[in-house]
Amino acid sequence: MTMKDASVAALVEAARGAMAHAHAPYSGFAVGAAVRLTDGEIVAGTNFENASYGLSLCAETVALATVNSRGRLADVEAIAVVGGADGVTPCGRCRQVMVEAEQIAGRPIAVYCASASGDAVTEHRVSALLPYAFGPMDLGVTRKKRS
Ligand code: THU
Repeated sequence: MTMKDASVAALVEAARGAMAHAHAPYSGFAVGAAVRLTDGEIVAGTNFENASYGLSLCAETVALATVNSRGRLADVEAIAVVGGADGVTPCGRCRQVMVEAEQIAGRPIAVYCASASGDAVTEHRVSALLPYAFGPMDLGVTRKKRS
């Protein structure tokens, strides 16, 4: 296993660990996400459903919002998303959230997708997941302002 493979495997395992905390009583579909920062720190998230179904939060959005709450959005470099027997890919809203994170980070964010327990991991670029995206640059914002 190469160093890159090892770091991807660790990220996927962190996302799988987060699945245990999914609040998904309505769909029964647990999703875990894990964000790797430039210093190697991993921040996890899981889906948080709501009795008013449409208010549910996805795992990727929860993980990236947690990164933001720690003031680390500029340091995001990769995110793993795991769920289901056949795997999961980010929903449309999460792709837009990833565009925001990527443009603020100022680097491409690698997106790794896997199932709840299988070996296969697919790698994606945010620009491929959401081509022609509208983002912060369209509003003249290039970096998160630090206070
Ligand atoms: N879900 C995520 O957490 N991430 C995605 O990208 C796809 C969908 C969650 C939302 C909901 O709690 C459940 O999976 C079923 O849609």
